[in-house]
Amino acid sequence: MKFFPKLILLASLCSSVVWAQSPFMAAASAAKSESQDVWWKHAVIYEIYPRSFQDSNGDGIGDLNGITERLDYLQSLGVDAIWLTPIYPSPQVDFGYDISDYEAIDPPYGTMADFDRLLAEAKKRNIRIIMDMVMNHTSDKHPWFIESKSSRNNPKRDWYVWRDGKGPGIPPNNWESVFGHTAWKYDPTTNQWYYHKFYAEQPDLNWRNPEVEKAMFGAVRFWLDRGVAGFRLDAIPTLFEDPQLRDARPVGGTNAYGDPILDDTYTDNLPEVHDVMRRLRALVASYPGNRVLIGETYLPNIQELDKWYGGASHNELNLPMDMQIGFTNKLDANLFRQRIQEVETKVHDNQPLIVFDNHDNIRSWNRYGDGVHDDEIARVLAAMLFTVRGTAMMYYGEELGMVTTPPARVEDVKDPIGKIGWPKEKGRDGERTPMQWSDSKDAGFSTAAATWLPVAPDYKTVNVQSEQADPNSMLNWYKKLIEMRRSNPALHDGSLIMLDKSNPNVLSYLRKAPAGSPSVIVSLNFTAQPQNVSLDLAGTGVAGNTVKTLLTDASALQSTTSLNHIELPPFASWIASVQ
Ligand code: BGC
Repeated sequence: MKFFPKLILLASLCSSVVWAQSPFMAAASAAKSESQDVWWKHAVIYEIYPRSFQDSNGDGIGDLNGITERLDYLQSLGVDAIWLTPIYPSPQVDFGYDISDYEAIDPPYGTMADFDRLLAEAKKRNIRIIMDMVMNHTSDKHPWFIESKSSRNNPKRDWYVWRDGKGPGIPPNNWESVFGHTAWKYDPTTNQWYYHKFYAEQPDLNWRNPEVEKAMFGAVRFWLDRGVAGFRLDAIPTLFEDPQLRDARPVGGTNAYGDPILDDTYTDNLPEVHDVMRRLRALVASYPGNRVLIGETYLPNIQELDKWYGGASHNELNLPMDMQIGFTNKLDANLFRQRIQEVETKVHDNQPLIVFDNHDNIRSWNRYGDGVHDDEIARVLAAMLFTVRGTAMMYYGEELGMVTTPPARVEDVKDPIGKIGWPKEKGRDGERTPMQWSDSKDAGFSTAAATWLPVAPDYKTVNVQSEQADPNSMLNWYKKLIEMRRSNPALHDGSLIMLDKSNPNVLSYLRKAPAGSPSVIVSLNFTAQPQNVSLDLAGTGVAGNTVKTLLTDASALQSTTSLNHIELPPFASWIASVQ
């Protein structure tokens, strides 16, 4: 399952909202500070789905105190920042992505004091906290929506997208929810319909109303004032819709919900969103400490990604996610080479953010695995994630080789889309199962009789405790890669130059070190066959032909000394320094 369809740009339409007096001055200073060596450029960002990470009070649901208990583990893994998916008060229809109060903590996760303690304890371990900010929609139980819904002339009416239907029982247009069927819900009290890009319990805010921006930026300040390191902006390309509400064009075929697939020109990635991003960047940049703005940016191509950075102006998001690399779902060396080259050369020297896994998609283990060499393939992808030039983002359990475990029966499904789309769409429960800490009850996640989602059956062998004890485990592979990325100057700061560019089986690149340090070569065999490669550094500005292996998962490669002759076993990863 690819969670979001590719997004397509709408070419025109103009902006309407003015928020700050001089956002561009602040954005210019943001661009200046970005040229310095900021923490997030080297960071490993670890996504935690709090419900599933660690339960500290035995109710079967993970919580903030649970995360605090596990900070030492995260520190030992080498994590620099944690992205927490939403922990705000919420009816939990979309497990936190339906927020009813942006400035508090949902009681099942703990209290504000627990949050402050997590922040402080994380800081002691040099770990920053990044919040999830959901700006496209609120919960239908948020007081703003309750007011908005109460009458047509309520002051908050225009905070959401209300329209008349085309006739009795007929919605304003043919737009569809990402989660299936019409994107409009009829409200009998006022005889109008409201727009919801996601669940009906997630009404879209109307970002053409300046009051909305003001309120949402207030929530942003609230968390910045508390000391968070930045935000991951949820579904951010969906902020604006076509004001004329033009019908979407069917592009052929039907989706998992049986709906016609529609072109999303009028609902996704409208140009107005970039004005908001520049103002948000200015706000965030006015705080000390190089806070970061990360975007959930599923986009159709690299040109669109570049816009989310602000292109040459570097004044929008610091790190819009590059979904073109981690979600190709094809273990194809040529494709990876091409996509890495693109983000190296076509985003105005902005910083790539590479990600393979999150709480919305089948785990990369299953998307890239061939069913036979899944473990080996996962190791190759991890080697790539941590050795290309870029910020690395990972998802809890990825470091253990946790697999996707979807519910077997529709009655066990928790994620509503799994009920709407069963059996074609089983929902996202499979990638949200509890973290596997040990082989004891509930995998050490909880002491409850039943956990909110069942623990995956492989927890007896795939867990932190047993993998810590095994030098060849996935966990130790991740640790070694992260440690090397941190300590090796070429991996830390070097530029990236592709090598052996027409090889369809092996991805090889040079990380060219700053003067005085050895450069590093990475070669990754993407196939189940042995591959021989000969790498030529001519034209790279790096001299030398002799190499020393730094890290590999294939013992045969330990003795490799020459770039002329490298024999890579199936799915081998090899990292070496040029002598
Ligand atoms: C989040 C999903 C969520 C949706 C609606 C996505 O981008 O990652 O988990 O269901 O936004 O908020």
